[in-house]
Amino acid sequence: MKEPFRFVLFYYLIFYLLIFQLPIFGKESESLRIGFGSCLHQDKESPILNQWEKESFDLILLLGDNIYADSLVAEEKIPAYQKQFVRPQWKKIRATSQILATWDDHDYGINDSGSEYVDKEKSREVFISQVGALMPKGRRLGTKDGKGIFHSYFLDFKKKKIHIVIPDTRFFRSELKPSFWSFFTGKKHYRPNENLDATLLGEEQWKWLTEELEKPSDFLVFVSGIQVIPTEQPFEKWGNFPKEREKLFQLLGSAKTSDLVILSGDRHIAEIYEYPIEDKRKFIEITSSSLNFPLPFLTLEYDSRFKLTPAFLEENYGVLRIQIKEGKLVWRAEIKDKIGNVVREYGNNDSN
Ligand SMILES: [Fe+2]
Repeated sequence: MKEPFRFVLFYYLIFYLLIFQLPIFGKESESLRIGFGSCLHQDKESPILNQWEKESFDLILLLGDNIYADSLVAEEKIPAYQKQFVRPQWKKIRATSQILATWDDHDYGINDSGSEYVDKEKSREVFISQVGALMPKGRRLGTKDGKGIFHSYFLDFKKKKIHIVIPDTRFFRSELKPSFWSFFTGKKHYRPNENLDATLLGEEQWKWLTEELEKPSDFLVFVSGIQVIPTEQPFEKWGNFPKEREKLFQLLGSAKTSDLVILSGDRHIAEIYEYPIEDKRKFIEITSSSLNFPLPFLTLEYDSRFKLTPAFLEENYGVLRIQIKEGKLVWRAEIKDKIGNVVREYGNNDSN
């Protein structure tokens, strides 16, 4: 090739890369950002809501205990919901972020309650009217005949399908078994319920979950109000129902998805867990709690064999950032403090 042609070709290539390629790199760096958190007391100040206004998440997942209003009469929860969502920050947050939510014990019923909670049908109605109103319209929560609030959601992001699955760990749950020492200490500590018919999700919800996890996706976000991987901590967890936890792991392991993450709340501390499964794969669980109600006396470090980071004890929220790099979905999860500093993090890809 003659020198002038080589010169022209070189500059043409540079010009082409600048004009056509850079915007594509730019697009590739865009990310889908999901905020999440739990345990938001309606009577306490919440600097994190100010932070959420600034974050402008694409989606926010409320992982339960969205109010604290324990009552045997579900209608008595309504003023607490109203107080929570009348905060001025929600207006701006809702203008920029979609919201999906589940409940935990303090918004569902009373502390640590399950299917035995007497006013659960009414509580479901209250949840749908107060929290369902914040969520995308036209969605069914729970069964056709009005039990529970489980639901799911698909997001399309750069031709990748992200499946958000939100089971209900309250409405159908069997009784908890108090631990031996709890009789003496009076503390709400539990041991595994090994009864053959003990359930966390109930038959109808397991059928729904099985069908959900058979739907193909590129990334599955499994949401649980209570923790999934831990077995040692004495509070509420999937581990209080070992057979149900094992069944969940089997289902998640065979889910028709390329990758998944578990998000949980409830604990009033933030933690990151890793649970190895076969073929060098692993489940990652990010626990974020509490948004404005930390309980630093719950500082004992349990489940260290699965834990990737020490617990973070102050107010916190989570951020799940999803990107597509060279056609591959990569994600990073962060725990942030009340002014937005990253205090714990995990990425599924070192270069992410
Ligand atoms: Fe809580």
